[in-house]
Amino acid sequence: MKHLILTLLAGGSLFAASSEINQYMKTLHNEVQQKDPSFKGFDATRGKTIYFSEHIGKRGKMVSCASCHTKDRTAQGENIFTGKVIEPLSPFANPKRFTKVKKVKKWLRRNFKDVYKREGTAKEKGDVLKYMMQK
Ligand code: HEC
Repeated sequence: MKHLILTLLAGGSLFAASSEINQYMKTLHNEVQQKDPSFKGFDATRGKTIYFSEHIGKRGKMVSCASCHTKDRTAQGENIFTGKVIEPLSPFANPKRFTKVKKVKKWLRRNFKDVYKREGTAKEKGDVLKYMMQK
């Protein structure tokens, strides 16, 4: 059985992130704190801004994370470039989400490039993960 750790997230919603995801969040946290000793922790409000703000991204299109994953993360999305269906991003609608660090890292790298044309910083990744993992 997978070892689960309950994580209390802002907004009072409880999501049982897998232990490898919790470990990854800790690693990101330490990375940010090394550069900024006054860092207090990841913030879902900053994460929400990262998720919704639009940028000139891939192929010169105005893109945000919501372009493909929609405003309602519990709904099915669609890849705006390929037209393929994307299963809901919210772990409350799709229990497979945020269980595998390898998958999370791979798609954060790709998707930040799609939207921001660069990789996310440790702080941005932690903030947006915190936002996406809450209701
Ligand atoms: C061009 C469309 C597109 C955009 C824009 C996009 N994504 Fe994705 N995202 C995908 C696809 C496709 C997948 C992989 C298929 C799947 O997991 O359903 C994915 C998967 C993910 C995953 C994997 C989650 C898991 O555990 O399964 C995360 C995290 C993610 N995206 C975050 C983001 C963030 C943050 C942004 C904005 C910076 C973003 N995405 C923007 C298409 C997109």
